[in-house]
Amino acid sequence: MNHRIPVVEIRNLTKIYRSGEEEDKTALADVSLDIDAGDIFGVIGLSGAGKSTLVRCINGLEGYDSGSVKVRGREVQDLTPADLRSLRQRTGMIFQHFNLMPSRTVAGNVELPLLEGSVWKHQRAARVAELLELVGLSDLADHYPAELSGGQQQRVAIARALANEPDILLSDEATSALDPNTTKSILQLLRDLHDSLGITVVLITHEMSVIRQICNKIAVIDHGTIVEQGKVFDVFADPQAQLTKSFIATTSNLDKITDLLAQDSPLVALEPGQVILRMSYVSKEVSEALVSYISRAFDLDVNIIFGDIDVVDGSPLGGLVVKIAGTDDHIKGALEYLKSRNIGIEILKS
Ligand SMILES: Nc1ncnc2c1ncn2[C@@H]1O[C@H](COP(=O)(O)OP(=O)(O)OP(=O)(O)O)[C@@H](O)[C@H]1O
Ligand SMILES: [Mg+2]
Repeated sequence: MNHRIPVVEIRNLTKIYRSGEEEDKTALADVSLDIDAGDIFGVIGLSGAGKSTLVRCINGLEGYDSGSVKVRGREVQDLTPADLRSLRQRTGMIFQHFNLMPSRTVAGNVELPLLEGSVWKHQRAARVAELLELVGLSDLADHYPAELSGGQQQRVAIARALANEPDILLSDEATSALDPNTTKSILQLLRDLHDSLGITVVLITHEMSVIRQICNKIAVIDHGTIVEQGKVFDVFADPQAQLTKSFIATTSNLDKITDLLAQDSPLVALEPGQVILRMSYVSKEVSEALVSYISRAFDLDVNIIFGDIDVVDGSPLGGLVVKIAGTDDHIKGALEYLKSRNIGIEILKS
């Protein structure tokens, strides 16, 4: 495939649900985005924002009113029924509630998409075994979905979605029904599959932490409109839309300092010569041990009150709230040094 052509190219997409009795509902309005081969593209929005509608337009389950949705260079709405079937085969899909068939075993569920093709029975069995190995479920092949945990059921669904060797995997809230640890392991599995199979992932979620963990690009959708999109690191480092800011706030404890300051908590009480500072890691170049450096170089006591630094797309992102103590000149020198290292500096109390 030509890597210059986006795998999914959406231009000015508008989708309106019409029903006789109720008012028309505009689910998507003028949506444009590009998903490139190899992206793990996160789409985040509140309930009803239009996320599921967007994925349903991508795999041709839903028509649209205006604009264009091209998958692998071809307009989805114009596909013949045969081409549409092939689009869906090459586009795996997983859901919040797994959607497994309760009457079939794990192996039986994974085998389902293979039955439509012309694969011989013994080849199917080999393929199923291979897929179960890929998701770490070889031992459970003969079990039924009801005997599995949520995380295991989602693994079955992932194996089933990969059966026809898709190059796009659409994930609609696939971790929303799972606990935080299971969520982590499923996200890790998606990341591993992305890395080993080279599959492009479109990941729908309402949790910013999910995006932060595995995506490289993000689009924020609000009432059917994209309010912000870009590389995950850039959007986290400098969010523009209010909705994006509020999503990011849910992934960090750094805003708690505002409450502590408002309550005059003993944690933030100051003596002469002390200041409270928020340091934000917003540049990809930061790699040094800045806290110990300024402490040594400027003879300061540096006391971390809150810290939340994560590695996003290979670079540290987040920040620290610190109390520092020293002479005015030394503090000034340290602040200048930090600014020169591209650290965002905000004096919260002095
Ligand atoms: N088949 C339908 N008929 C009419 N309206 C619909 C239909 N499907 C979705 N809608 C409406 O379109 C809007 C977008 O729905 P959609 O399911 O895409 O949102 P979502 O972002 O996936 O929400 P959630 O996070 O709750 O899954 C909502 O207002 C919804 O009520
Ligand atoms: Mg949805």
